[in-house]
Amino acid sequence: MFNRGNIHLWLIGGASFFGFGFVKLATKPVEAAIAQSDSQENSAVVIDIAEAEKLYLRRCGACHSLDAHRIGPRHRGVVGREAGSLADYEYSPALRNAEFVWNEQQLDQWLSNPEALVPGQKMGFRISNGAERNAIIAYLRAQSE
Ligand code: HEC
Repeated sequence: MFNRGNIHLWLIGGASFFGFGFVKLATKPVEAAIAQSDSQENSAVVIDIAEAEKLYLRRCGACHSLDAHRIGPRHRGVVGREAGSLADYEYSPALRNAEFVWNEQQLDQWLSNPEALVPGQKMGFRISNGAERNAIIAYLRAQSE
């Protein structure tokens, strides 16, 4: 099973390689985006940010964009933002009242099963593929720095 603690995630720009599961030297390490590294690192996941953006547009773009509210709220800056906190978006009461700050872990839970994280929320979408979740979360994080 995918063990987050042991996975070191790098973002690289430019290359067209989408290398989940491969160990590869990143040309521009940005820092571990999802995992906190620990002393027993034994694998690396390289994420091509250009490919991650395409994935974001494919999976999330029908309802979200970085800078404008659509069906869902705008995403730029979401990592580090309090859940349900944008004043000009009409959240479900459940998400509006949620009291946590989005980090990689919360986003992973949200994308796996939003209803399990925030019962009563209104995002009817989930992603079962962990590698896709990681890529999209890394992309969102890169747009939040
Ligand atoms: C079918 C439409 C739809 C799709 C597809 C969708 N979302 Fe959402 N999303 C929503 C809605 C609606 C909300 C508001 C939920 C609420 O208020 O309970 C939301 C809320 C969110 C939030 C909470 C933001 C905040 O300000 O607290 C995050 C994070 C999020 N979505 C991420 C994603 C990501 C990443 C994807 C793609 C993997 C995605 N969503 C795909 C509709 C969608």
